[in-house]
Amino acid sequence: MTPLHVDNVSKTYRQGDRVVEALRGVTLDVARGQFVAIMGASGSGKSTLLHLTAGLTKAETGGVYINGQDLGKMNDAQLTRFRRDQIGLVFQSFNLIPTLSAEDNILLPVRLARKMTDADHRRVEELIDLLGIGPRRHHKPDALSGGEQQRVAIGRALINDPAVILADEPTGNLDSVNSRSVCELLRDLCRLHGKTIVMVTHEPSVAAYANDVAVIKDGKVVDSFSTESTPDQQSLAARYQSAIGPK
Ligand SMILES: Nc1ncnc2c1ncn2[C@@H]1O[C@H](COP(=O)(O)OP(=O)(O)OP(=O)(O)O)[C@@H](O)[C@H]1O
Ligand SMILES: [Mg+2]
Repeated sequence: MTPLHVDNVSKTYRQGDRVVEALRGVTLDVARGQFVAIMGASGSGKSTLLHLTAGLTKAETGGVYINGQDLGKMNDAQLTRFRRDQIGLVFQSFNLIPTLSAEDNILLPVRLARKMTDADHRRVEELIDLLGIGPRRHHKPDALSGGEQQRVAIGRALINDPAVILADEPTGNLDSVNSRSVCELLRDLCRLHGKTIVMVTHEPSVAAYANDVAVIKDGKVVDSFSTESTPDQQSLAARYQSAIGPK
């Protein structure tokens, strides 16, 4: 089963008499264990695509299928449950609960879903180890660095072992050292743990960690390529620039 199939989605926003065609027929297929970077300039439709994929907004035309399930056929309650179980969301701004420890933030989706099982206890131990936040597990978010906070947010996205992880500019609030470590973590989650990740970024240095890149311009995919064809950051940046063209 394909973890993610986005089929020809379109989305228009209307505000008063302003009409914005944010997405104009985008198709995206993501295989299991694939790490895809969505690149594009500000306003090109990247977040809109990610929000549609997460079922946070609905497409006017086309459909989103996660593990073969059509998000468009679900009602709000089904969608909320499906999102909790099958989609791991990571945002630029971490969105952690300030009053909960790192460990309790990771466990939040479990606590909302069910009584903690032994398997959940084992899983949180594995994740804390994988994320390298053992000594920090009892700290609240304000006592963690940005990189540690984003690791906790990634742990929270992983705790229910979702079909796909969707990350919107996950390194956008991080310095270069923390950004690199979060990118390495995402890459290892794919390479070593078979996770499927879609990440929005406009930074070639971040996109270089993915296996594949899809470039969006004015709500359309204008280029897609494997990062094997752009072995260094400069060649990836050059290909991206030529895809989005002059401003
Ligand atoms: N809720 C909304 N209401 C009206 N217009 C919106 C809304 N959300 C996004 N847009 C518009 O849709 C277009 C695409 O926005 P989107 O947020 O998807 O871009 P983006 O590629 O994520 O940009 P950025 O890199 O700045 O985050 C923009 O023109 C934006 O102004
Ligand atoms: Mg955005």
